[in-house]
Order: sequence, then structure tokens, then C-alpha cells
Amino acid sequence: MNSLNQTWKELLTRIPAPADNPAASCAEPESAFLRDRPLLHISPPTGWLNDPNGLCQYQGVFHAFFQYSPFTAEGGLKFWGHCTSPDLLHWDFKGVPMMPDELFDCHGCYSGCALPEDGLLYLYYTGNVKESGSHDYVHTGRQSNTILAVSDGMQITEKTLLMTNNDYPSHLTRHVRDPKVWKQDGTYYMIQGARTDKDQGVALLFASLDRENWRFIHTLQTAKPFGYMWECPDLFELEGNMVLSVSPQGVPADGLRFQNRYQSVVFFLKGDFRSAVVGDACQELDAGFDFYAPQTFPTDDGRRILIAWMGMPDETTYGNPTVSYGWQHTLTLPRELSIQDGTLCQNPVRELSAWWNREAAFTGDFCCRSERCFELELVSQGGNAMVTLAGGLTLSYQEDTNQFDMEFQNPQLGNGRKKRSAKVKILSRIRLVADLSCLEVFLNNGETVFSTRFYPQSEGYEIQVQGCIQGIYRTHA
Ligand code: FRU
Repeated sequence: MNSLNQTWKELLTRIPAPADNPAASCAEPESAFLRDRPLLHISPPTGWLNDPNGLCQYQGVFHAFFQYSPFTAEGGLKFWGHCTSPDLLHWDFKGVPMMPDELFDCHGCYSGCALPEDGLLYLYYTGNVKESGSHDYVHTGRQSNTILAVSDGMQITEKTLLMTNNDYPSHLTRHVRDPKVWKQDGTYYMIQGARTDKDQGVALLFASLDRENWRFIHTLQTAKPFGYMWECPDLFELEGNMVLSVSPQGVPADGLRFQNRYQSVVFFLKGDFRSAVVGDACQELDAGFDFYAPQTFPTDDGRRILIAWMGMPDETTYGNPTVSYGWQHTLTLPRELSIQDGTLCQNPVRELSAWWNREAAFTGDFCCRSERCFELELVSQGGNAMVTLAGGLTLSYQEDTNQFDMEFQNPQLGNGRKKRSAKVKILSRIRLVADLSCLEVFLNNGETVFSTRFYPQSEGYEIQVQGCIQGIYRTHA
């Protein structure tokens, strides 16, 4: 039993009786509690999880906070849940350190980040406040407060209100949120997402010399609007490039691109980020169904890691049956970022490769019964290839169209999810990580990634591989 399962079990014994806590009413028996629950992906013990927040390595330990509604699997008032890990694979749930308990955050402790410095964790986040009265909560009625909470890594000792809507540029709606802070050349920078009064998604840059007093310095935006709102922006240096990551809302589908309700994309900035104009060309970060609001952080050994919410806000055509067991959503696996030929690549952290301790290598076609958690690494020579999971989810490549499809033939398996596709010029490698109801597929060393939740009816199911020249099936005993 790994430590995360252990923590859930302990937690289960502490969850109040159903009458006090609606989420807990579905949490028993234990088989339902653990059903579909991944081993390595962060999931909430009860209730609803969304964006990763405050990702960092602090005093050697990895911390992942997340948007959390503990009392209902359908979402509600937002707290921050908290997990820690020694290795980015095994996560311990540490409780709910951030609560909407001040007038300036009383309708939700919205997304934010962590800055580890001087032996403390500085947590920046948005305090959401909805005023009473008749409002659309876009142009009036909402306060988006920028708040700093100081933590020792476990508890929050103080909260300070840093900025209100009056401190943001005046042409914005009330939607301003999700601060991400970093330090560069002796200056602190903060980026926040916003919606202008002309319904354009933009990112705001602020600077500070002391972590507390912030000055607005620049708006990062495309020449033509790309969505009406940018959520959860991030800006980081990677291999000499300044990468702007945003989660835009309101971008129409464009052929195979932008098929989800909301998107997550990166732009490579040209020139100084403090004055840059964002170019038109962006890269969609994930071609699957369940990926939103990614956040990155640097590790002590110099890697840049990305974790996203493995879910999709406001999606009505597909869902997650775990709601009936009292919890919903997970985060993605932590992914290492790199750049190859101008493309941002994402691959599972190297700790995962070291964790598998059983493997079976094969050449040609392959068929086996799966474990609950496994990895398949396949080599292809660019011809047609197909992986079928549980007889009803196909991952297939068509050489003549250069198209890779993820398609649910069995509706129960996808719970409403149907098909997502991406163009892949030459398919050389497929790496697939399945962890109970979480599936992530990395093509060509992470150039293209598909993330999805899926719901096989039994823990072991058939895996079939056709058209690849060789492969390795890996598990952990
Ligand atoms: C993105 C988001 C953020 C916000 C948070 C609220 O999913 O809408 O913009 O801070 O979720 O939970």
C-alpha cells in the first residue's frame, strides 16, 4: 500500500458522518472510495479539485496545493488543499491550510502560486468576493483581490491584502486573477490573467522590490484578441526562451485545434518580456480531453516541471463517474519541460522511469492483460499504428493523413468523451502512462500529448498493440 492510499484510509476514518458532510456520504465502502482512484496522480480525498496552486520545492520537499471544495464533488466554495511528496510520485494529503476566512477572500481562495524564500513560503492568490445586489459579476459586483499569505510549509500564519481592482489598469473588467510570482535579477515579477472591457484575454505584469508593494508595468497581449479571458498565466525561462503559458477562454475551434471548452497554450516571447507584444503563433499544450490551468515551477536540480488540472471547467458533454463516490478530478503527472526545434515538449518526470521495477520487452504486435498502473513505450517507423485499451479506447496513427486519434468506441469507457485528434508529421515514439482512471499519451518525446480520464470497468483489461516495431511494457510490483 503506498503512502497516499494510506493517507486516504486514515483520512476516511476522520471524515464526519454523512449528515455533517455531504461529500462523505458517498465515500463508503472502501472499495468505492478507492475505485478509479489513481496511485500517482493527486486526487482529493473527498470533494472537488481543480487548478494546481503553489507548486514548489521547498526545503527539499515538493509541495502541491490545489483549488479545493472539500464538501461537494460538484464544486463550490474554494479552499486550497495541500499535498507533499519526496519524489513527485507519492503524495501525502496534508489537509486544507488555506480557507476563505477573511472579508477580502470570503467567496473563494482562488488560484495562485508559491515563492519559497528566506526559509518561508510566500503564497500569492486571488481573494474572490461577490457583492450582493444585481450584478453580472463580470463588469460589476466582483472583487478580485491580490493577497499574500505567509506559510511555514504547513500552516498559514498571516494574510495581507496587496492589491484590489483599483490597483489594476482601468480598462479591465472585474476579472483579474491567478498571480504567479518569480524573482529575476533582484526584482520580483508577478503575472496575472485578466479580461478587458472589450472582452480580450490579457496578462498583466507587475514588479516589486520587496514582495509586498507592486507596480503595474506592462500588458502582455496578442494584436488580435485570442479569447475573452486568460486564466492562470505563467511566464518562465526555458533553455534561453521566455515562455508565456495561458489558459484562454472563448477561443473557437480551428480544425483539429482548440477542441475543448477552454484551452491551454504557450507563446514564445520575442525580446524583453517587460515590453513584448505576444505573437500570433501559439502551441496547444495538450490534445486530449482533460487538461487545463497548468502551472510550472523550478526544481533544485534545475528542471522546469509542469502540473495541470486533469479536468475541464464548464464541460457538460462528458464527466467523471467518481462524483458518485464523493470526489472528482485529479492533477496530471508532473512533467519535465524541454524545447525541441521550437516546440515545448512535456515528458513524465524522470522519477517515474526509475519507479517501474518490472518490464517486458517485445517486438511486433503485443497483447497482454493490464495492471492498474503501467507504462507502454513503443517505437514506430511512421507507419499506421494502433493501441487498443479495454477493447474500447483506440489510440491510432494514420500515415497517409499524418493524424493521431484518441477515440472512445465504448461510451461507458469515456463517460461522454468521444474523439480528439492531432497532426503528427512522423510518428516515431508513443509513450503511454495509465494510472487507473488517468491516461496520458506522449508522442515523439512529448511534442504532442493527449491527457484523458477513462473508466475501464475492471482494474485489469486487455492491451493490444499493432503496427509498432518494438516496445516495452512496464509496471511496479
Ligand atoms: C481556472 C480558474 C481560475 C480561478 C480558479 C477558481 O480553472 O477559473 O481562474 O482562480 O479556477 O477555482
